[in-house]
Amino acid sequence: MPAAVVTINITENQHHLLIQKPVSGLSLQGHLKVPGDKSISHRALMLGAIAQGETQIQGLLLGEDPRSTAMCFRAMGAQISELNTEQVIVKGIGLGQLQEPMDVLDAGNSGTTLRLMLGLLASHPERFFTVTGDSSLRSRPMSRVVQPLQQMGAKIWGRQGATLAPLAIQGQQLQPIHYHSPIASAQVKSCILLAGLMAEGRTTVTEPALSRDHSERMLKAFGAQLSVDPDTNSVTVTGPAQLQGQTVIVPGDISSAAFWLVAGAIVPGSEVLIENIGVNPTRTGVLEALAMMGADIELENQRVVAGEPVADLRVRHGRLKGCKITGNLIPRLIDEIPILAVAAAFAEGTTLIQDAAELRVKESDRIAVMASQLNRMGARVTELPDGLEIIGGTPLVGTEVDSHTDHRIAMSLAIAALNATGTTTIKGAEAAAISYPDFTTTLQQLCRQ
Ligand code: S3P
Repeated sequence: MPAAVVTINITENQHHLLIQKPVSGLSLQGHLKVPGDKSISHRALMLGAIAQGETQIQGLLLGEDPRSTAMCFRAMGAQISELNTEQVIVKGIGLGQLQEPMDVLDAGNSGTTLRLMLGLLASHPERFFTVTGDSSLRSRPMSRVVQPLQQMGAKIWGRQGATLAPLAIQGQQLQPIHYHSPIASAQVKSCILLAGLMAEGRTTVTEPALSRDHSERMLKAFGAQLSVDPDTNSVTVTGPAQLQGQTVIVPGDISSAAFWLVAGAIVPGSEVLIENIGVNPTRTGVLEALAMMGADIELENQRVVAGEPVADLRVRHGRLKGCKITGNLIPRLIDEIPILAVAAAFAEGTTLIQDAAELRVKESDRIAVMASQLNRMGARVTELPDGLEIIGGTPLVGTEVDSHTDHRIAMSLAIAALNATGTTTIKGAEAAAISYPDFTTTLQQLCRQ
């Protein structure tokens, strides 16, 4: 009778997700697939658009973020077929051939769309572009990509000294640089590498810790001359590049699977098999953190699909204990910290998350929002400047909480609600559609009374 557990009230386009834990308890059972990886979906659309020839994408994420990417690149002349999970065809227009769009490019809620696209726009001489996003994206820092692009010769204007969108870009012939990024960010790294595709010579990015490497893998597969130095966390691309359209098979997103991994681990009696998940080592920090907490998770059927490692993940309920999540692990699980905070709230002892100040400039301030919303439910969470301290084990009680229009917060709070007594109402649950449009349906299917 899953419908009794999870109901949705829709008011003025806002979904209030109601999760009512039956007194008799519930568990999660079954197997499922999650939508395609968001990072890989963006990159497949973008590289497909700027390559020569046709790119076929299987398993694309149909969330709002990749839709923003597709709309922007269509507006610049790329032919992208209707988005679906079966097969999307992108007819590339060739490197340096993006057309000047008739209107402002709108990246919506998507930092990846805006920041990666900026590297391409800045390197298109004689063309003018304006880019913007929703209110969340317009308050997120852009200097992290604008500054290195300016070092390459880019001309960019915007609010508060070109640190905030909307931004205006007059494309230029850019010069290659060696950029030492102060932050481990795949968006920064990818932006500069994409800009380097058109610069003559070697463009190198060195980062303080390794961030996700999907751009490196896909650029190589599309034929770019790219080398990686793992000892120094450096990547070099040599321009001008020649990219050739490819077939991209997008694995399930480990960041979406993480909600079910934690749900299965914390809800008594649960066993869930999540199939076809990308387990690229730059993304599997969440598996390592959950292993430290003592979670019962097995990787089955490990294989490589179109250059990315993939596995099925089986999770069973078990006792969790607190752990420390810091340092180089942070960039490898940055998007999973909200749901790991939920796991920590149900773990025995203290969990310490540090070196994660980046969370404050995501779709919301995820440190402040997770602390305030979990505490509303009765958890013991303390905000740190760069993380969270969570004393686990206090029982959570259902109440009204707010996603702050952040997809990962909405879904994390829904999972917390499965183990809270009474009814939890999550305001702004529709935000889940950014990365996981079917989240609520899957939740209903997995819940057993
Ligand atoms: C992403 C990189 C990460 C991540 C985001 C997607 C990407 O951001 O949080 O959801 O696809 O490159 P940062 O690079 O800013 O850490």
